[in-house]
Amino acid sequence: MFSIIVNFKVYREGFGKEGKGLLREISNVRKDGYDVYFAVPHADLHLAELYGNVIAQHVDPYSEGAHTGSVIMEHLIDYGVKASLLNHSEKKIGRKAIEETIRAADSLGFRLYICSENLEETRFLCESGANYVAYEPPELIGGNVSVATSKPEIIRESTDICKSYGVKLLVGAGVRNSNDVSISSSLGAEGILVSSGIVRSKQPEHSLNSLMI
Ligand code: G3P
Repeated sequence: MFSIIVNFKVYREGFGKEGKGLLREISNVRKDGYDVYFAVPHADLHLAELYGNVIAQHVDPYSEGAHTGSVIMEHLIDYGVKASLLNHSEKKIGRKAIEETIRAADSLGFRLYICSENLEETRFLCESGANYVAYEPPELIGGNVSVATSKPEIIRESTDICKSYGVKLLVGAGVRNSNDVSISSSLGAEGILVSSGIVRSKQPEHSLNSLMI
């Protein structure tokens, strides 16, 4: 299966009433061979009780207790959320926190898509026990030039590193069309992350559909 993660970030279009409408609309989009996940803002994670495949945008390594402001896996699991992004370039955490979060997630069977900005970070994540690495060059995020067309050689090198550790690679930034998906897939990526191309689209359902080959 090829994974598509739609990151709602905290765009106006992806939050509250509008976010719920967006989720309702795009959660209908299905195609054989694709798993689509929706990374919604924290305040909307309760929507996992209504819609499948809702994931978090960040999670902390702590257990229940005195950790003010934390997003913890036990609570997410209670809502039916089984996975989260981590270390997104807009929400970077330190390496120690990454290692702690991987350990906590492993003990709960919680899935982490851990973002990487470069090959060195990808290698660190693989060595730290990541199961999924999401490579996103920060300078391409939110733009119209995709990672697949702009940095194919780094996708290939990332794939090689990840494969040698048995880790799955996803790639993202600037994804706009099925060509981006097919290049990424042909270079060995097992999924993509996409945000503005869907969340800010005037026709989100059509835009998501058009990514699927
Ligand atoms: O997590 C996905 C995101 O950072 C990519 O954003 O707007 O370039 O699709 P965008």
